[in-house]
Amino acid sequence: MPENRVKELVRLLSQSKIVLSGSIDEKALSGIDVELLASKVIEARMGSTAALNIVTLEEILKVLDSLKVEKAPVPIEVIRSADFRPIAAETEAKYRMFNTPSERTEGTASDFVSHFNSRLKKIRALIETRRDYGLIPNLEATKGFMNGREVSIVGMVSNKIETKKGNLMIILEDETGEAKVMIMNGTSQQARELFEKAGNLIFDEVVAVKGKISGPFVIANDLIWPDIPIKQRKEVDEDVSIAFMSDIHVGSKRFMKESFSNVIRWLNGNIEANRDVAGKIKYIVMAGDVVDGVGIYPGQEAELAIPDIYAQYEELMSFVDAIPEYIHVFMLPGNHDAVQLAEPQPPLTSDLLKDFRKDNVHILSNPGNVTLHGMDVLAYHGKSLDSIISMVPGLSYAQPEKAMIELLKRRHVSPVYGNAASSTIVPSKEDNLVIERIPDILHMGHVHKNGITNYHGVEVVNSGTWQSRTDFQIRQGHIPTPCVLPVYDMKNHIFNSINFNSGA
Ligand SMILES: [Fe+2]
Repeated sequence: MPENRVKELVRLLSQSKIVLSGSIDEKALSGIDVELLASKVIEARMGSTAALNIVTLEEILKVLDSLKVEKAPVPIEVIRSADFRPIAAETEAKYRMFNTPSERTEGTASDFVSHFNSRLKKIRALIETRRDYGLIPNLEATKGFMNGREVSIVGMVSNKIETKKGNLMIILEDETGEAKVMIMNGTSQQARELFEKAGNLIFDEVVAVKGKISGPFVIANDLIWPDIPIKQRKEVDEDVSIAFMSDIHVGSKRFMKESFSNVIRWLNGNIEANRDVAGKIKYIVMAGDVVDGVGIYPGQEAELAIPDIYAQYEELMSFVDAIPEYIHVFMLPGNHDAVQLAEPQPPLTSDLLKDFRKDNVHILSNPGNVTLHGMDVLAYHGKSLDSIISMVPGLSYAQPEKAMIELLKRRHVSPVYGNAASSTIVPSKEDNLVIERIPDILHMGHVHKNGITNYHGVEVVNSGTWQSRTDFQIRQGHIPTPCVLPVYDMKNHIFNSINFNSGA
């Protein structure tokens, strides 16, 4: 915390070209999170077009007041604009939902063995479907092979070791044994390319290796990921759209309530800008961290505007309740929500939602699937982005869509297990986190940064956040993109990103 809060406030405001008029007493700021105060003031003035952005002492005191802990959620009141005739209200909803099954096991070593065997079997089948590589049935079978024999094998990456000579040794495992795969650090272009490719290997993923037997090793000449084939675009006749949200973090002091309320007002036709876009929205997918939760990390209490978990969901549902009823909302949990952390996460319980029930509001597991007018949406909160970003060279939080492509290539939403940054999993008999069915749209959140791309015909979207930047994120050099709503026009196959951060 800075020694001089007034000075710090002035400094932070000036970064956004906001000047403080009048002098504020150091005492008035005692015990105040100045960075949070500044971000709230900046948020409140986002829409201002004044050449000189002057903030008065009265405004600061007003924001200071709003930072006090909310005693009870204040429901948002929205009335549908009388002259708003949304196309989506006239269009029949067509949806089917699929939860990811996760039968619980004891979590014993043998449960993990059968879980990973299931992963191996499924991804091996996906690799074989792509092309006939003549895969050897199992790793044990390679043991009797003569030197020089060409083989194609499949296994799970259990270790990556740099040898003294600078080569890379990969240990592949399957249900019968292991294989030591050498990637030579050669000078030819082909060798360099393969070595670079091998740098992308991550723990616990399943890959195929083409190579030659050499004593106890397989000398690799190619690595094959299951990947996805080019997918044909599904045509949708109805002129409707899907809005994607995640990481709303209701209950956090940094939840950008005004901006989020504006989305709800906009959906009700009460905001002029992009009203035609609002009128086409038939579906909203919320990919987790819908509330900030309680006890998620040490010291979180100081960051909470609503310290009670039930009150957090109550406030969230007051927003959801104000969404027009012709819009279907699909909501799944994330790592901040009050369900088990191990994935697949079950849907939010009716206990948490205080029996909130509406025909247009649907709760889903994480990951969860929903088919909308024939288009398959795979929604996953995205906790595994932490581990894949930390392990694959060239990935960063600035471009989550690239990390999402890496997950598609591996045909698994959460491949890394047992790494400090990895997600925990339920060791169910079957690995249900394998992406067996290729979605038309892959939606994630978690990293608080919007990103949109298309990979082999799959629309890839990260829907950012509705929470302002935290100290932690600033220290990490991570710049989130709060309050940007991606909306997918299903008929024309285009994304519109609507910025609610500027008071739209
Ligand atoms: Fe998250």
